[in-house]
Amino acid sequence: MEQLLDVISEKVGAAFEAAGYDRTLGRVQISNRPDLCEYQCNGAMAGAKQYHKAPFMIADAVAAELAKGEKRPDGTVEESAFESVESVKPGFLNLRLKPAFLAGYLEQMREAGADGKWGLPAPEKKKKIIIDYGGPNVAKPLHVGHLRSAVIGEALKRLARYNGQDIIGDIHLGDWGLQMGLVITELRKRHPEWVYFDDNYTGAYPEEAPFTVSDLEEVYPFASKRSKEDADYYAEAMENTHLLQEKKRGFYALWQKIIEVSVADLKKNYRNLDVEFELWNGEASVNDVIPGMVDKMKQDGFAYESNGALVVDVAEDTDAKEVPPCIILKSDGAALYTTTDLATILDRENKYDPDEILYVTDKRQALHFTQVFRAARKCGLVKPTTELVHIGFGTMNGRDGKPFKTRDGGVMRLETLISDIDEEMKKKIETNPEIGAEEADRTAKQVAMAALKYGDLSNQASKDYVFDIEKFCSFEGDTGPYILYTMVRIKSILAKYKAQDGAVDLSELRIGPARSGAEKTLQETLARFSGTMQNSWKEYAPHRLCAYIYDLSNDFNSFYHGTRILVEEDREKKAGWIALLTLTLGVLEACTDVLGFSAPDRM
Ligand code: ARG
Repeated sequence: MEQLLDVISEKVGAAFEAAGYDRTLGRVQISNRPDLCEYQCNGAMAGAKQYHKAPFMIADAVAAELAKGEKRPDGTVEESAFESVESVKPGFLNLRLKPAFLAGYLEQMREAGADGKWGLPAPEKKKKIIIDYGGPNVAKPLHVGHLRSAVIGEALKRLARYNGQDIIGDIHLGDWGLQMGLVITELRKRHPEWVYFDDNYTGAYPEEAPFTVSDLEEVYPFASKRSKEDADYYAEAMENTHLLQEKKRGFYALWQKIIEVSVADLKKNYRNLDVEFELWNGEASVNDVIPGMVDKMKQDGFAYESNGALVVDVAEDTDAKEVPPCIILKSDGAALYTTTDLATILDRENKYDPDEILYVTDKRQALHFTQVFRAARKCGLVKPTTELVHIGFGTMNGRDGKPFKTRDGGVMRLETLISDIDEEMKKKIETNPEIGAEEADRTAKQVAMAALKYGDLSNQASKDYVFDIEKFCSFEGDTGPYILYTMVRIKSILAKYKAQDGAVDLSELRIGPARSGAEKTLQETLARFSGTMQNSWKEYAPHRLCAYIYDLSNDFNSFYHGTRILVEEDREKKAGWIALLTLTLGVLEACTDVLGFSAPDRM
């Protein structure tokens, strides 16, 4: 289906043409003065120069054409879509749609809704996209910093998919760096007797991991702290990281167990967030790609030795700030974060031939990605058309404006954060006497997810934001629970209508022309659906979708408060409203699903 703005623009464009002006001047936009009109066209202002005429003369002529209605190709005239067209000095066209025309458009949307897309067209050319998000580090507990990547990445992936793109998500585990060396070093100090550390051992290693995930979560911070205080310890960890990267038998076997235990725990955590990855690759997955890649970079003359390390220059003349060379291998030959990222690009290019690779990480990694992307292009790891995009997000702060911490100043674990929100929400849901304990539990989790995700996604990703549980959990204002509350309200009206009029099939009811300003506003907001969906994707901006469902919820609630739907005696009117509610709910469901949460039946 065409976007409503395009449909109207065509009509206005045709009127420009009929009046003797360029058709493209007829571009219509949503009015920035809703008190004056619904849509506006500023084409006459632009045309004034081109035609050496006062803009109002052009606008007057176009308005006169629009008043005549639209000529069909067979010569008959179609009734005008506009209720009013005003030419306003110095040369604006202020437009209002006829309620019947708007309702007709929504009817098409409703009918097209059978596939769950509500008229959203498929892209002209489907792109193959890989989105790299989540990015947790093995053996370290998931903390709130990983929340944003997971939540934003998942929303972007679903947004792309809803828009008809071919996209897969890769978690890109941090599983090959120094933290692995640290964990191995500390485990060896504590358990030198483990067979993994016996260099003479040639048998098979045990099936069972000798540690739990909680053990690992204690070992890593301990080792990390010690390495900062003790230079020898640090050197040993570096050495062990390198030995691991060379796949020293015992270390590699132990590493596999660490991965096994960590990944099982990560899967559980991400499942709780309703975040799912198609690929569970990691830095280590490309270990074997590195040597060939490095050789080629050397052969082609891009990589050279500098202070013992192997580097690629990536500075450009136009750089405002210095972009340092990309270090490919350290002097001891060990791979770095950059190395594994480059090898991963090469590997993805070879395996998937993507049109686009998106990375969702903290924006403080911007320089890293600038270096990586430039090096990848320079060394020809990707074809020139492959787009590489870093979507950097801001910091999640506490109410004090500083990075979010636990009460005692530690790093808050994601699990703790989620259970805190669940608790807060449960207190609210429990106040509804109709809801039993078990349902309250389930519903609280569902609403808490919306609170958490909407609280994050409603902010422009690149900005820092304040994580405020109390605010996020409120049923009023720009929050996830408010959106769900609106959806629950619609569900309840629809259920009551069905109970009143058992025989009806809701999908048979047709939307009627708006009868009030509030109803028309709601209809107009609904008509913006596909444009919003497309733009949110184009701009990688889930916050646009949040703003849209907030508008839609507000518009629905204003309509609801001014309209007594269920007691309406005129059956047709009432049925029209029910059809409008069905569409509103359908659109809200499509949007919330993209954002990664859903509404219960009651709350
Ligand atoms: N593990 C990294 C971190 O915690 C994030 C990985 C992001 N993805 C990537 N391809 N570099 O910072």
